Amino acid sequence: MQKKQNIVLVGFMGTGKTTVGHFLAEATGMPLVDMDTLIEQRTQKTIPEIFAKEGEASFRNLERELTKELAQKTGQVVSTGGGLVLNPDNIRDFEKTSLVICLLASEETLMSRLKGDSSRPLLAGEKEEKIKQLLQTRRPLYEAISHKIDTNKRSPEEIARQILALYETNLENGA
Ligand code: S3P
Repeated sequence: MQKKQNIVLVGFMGTGKTTVGHFLAEATGMPLVDMDTLIEQRTQKTIPEIFAKEGEASFRNLERELTKELAQKTGQVVSTGGGLVLNPDNIRDFEKTSLVICLLASEETLMSRLKGDSSRPLLAGEKEEKIKQLLQTRRPLYEAISHKIDTNKRSPEEIARQILALYETNLENGA
C-alpha cells in the first residue's frame, strides 16, 4: 500500500469517536474525516433534519454511499456514526483499507455522557430507554469488530495512544 492505511473509529453514540479522532489526526498528521459532518456539509442539512424530513433509511443510504467512497482512500482518520455497524457491508468495506477500531463504554457511562445531549434524533424522548434498546440490538454488532477498546474512565488521549500503538504494530507487520 502506498499510503498509510486509514484508522476508522466505530462505536455507539457517546463513546468518544470524534474526540479520540482529533487526537489521532493530530498525532499521525492524517486528516480527520467526520462522516456525519461531511454528510451535513454535502446535503446542507443537519442530521436531525435528514432524519425528520427524509427518514432514517435515507440517512443510512447517505452513510452507505460515503462509506464506499472513503473506503477506497487511504491516509485518513475516519470518525463514523454510531449506526454504521447496522450494515455489515460498511465494516467489510472499511476493513479492506483500514484499521477498524470499536470504542466501547458501559451503559452507565453512556447514560452520563449523553445526558444533556439533544443533537441525536434516535435519542429524542425517553433517552435512557432508547439507549437501552439500541444497545441491546447493537451490542453484538460492536462486539463482532476484531479490535475493541474500553473507554470507561479513560481519557481520550490515553485511548488515542493505545490505538496508535496498535496502528504502528499493524504497519510494521505490513497490514
Ligand atoms: C447514529 C449516531 C450518530 C448519527 C446519527 C445516527 C446512530 O452519530 O450518525 O444520529 O444510529 O447511532 P454519533 O455516533 O457520532 O453520535
